[in-house]
Amino acid sequence: MERCLILIKPDAMKRNLATTILSRFESQGLKMTALKMLHMNNVLAERHYAVHTEKPFFRDLIEYMTSTPIVAAVFAGEQALEKISRIVGATNPVKAEPGTIRRDFGLDITQNSVHRSDAPETAETEIRLFFTKDEIFDY
Ligand code: PPS
Repeated sequence: MERCLILIKPDAMKRNLATTILSRFESQGLKMTALKMLHMNNVLAERHYAVHTEKPFFRDLIEYMTSTPIVAAVFAGEQALEKISRIVGATNPVKAEPGTIRRDFGLDITQNSVHRSDAPETAETEIRLFFTKDEIFDY
């Protein structure tokens, strides 16, 4: 069983796409085990994207991710990370396969509608940033 953090990004929030996007994961058999809406502050956004600190797009990415409330969720399942990678599609929406979330809803490489954890270790680190143990359910 694997777990993955999903963030519904500001571009999707502004277009009322949060539940549409969440349903893409549920309909593929992934179990939603945590869910919250929050407005990220700079500290949380910088921690979450710490790996990109030196990238030229870092400041713009932080400003973007703190521009509106977002939805954070944890999805769990067998091979959840690989499944979610396929459902979400490539970072750049124009390179994402048809039928993926980013191809269907993404606007550009920054406003690509959804963040997903890319490996088991990063998933656990990211989940801990957004959720306490008590906020994650097993059912
Ligand atoms: S990278 O650059 O190969 O590490 O890209 P990736 O791991 O796919 O994630 C990059 C995240 O930064 C956001 N972002 C950008 N990436 C590349 N170029 C530009 N200009 C850029 N601007 C923002 C991108 O949306 C990825 O965010 P997440 O939330 O991880 O999907």
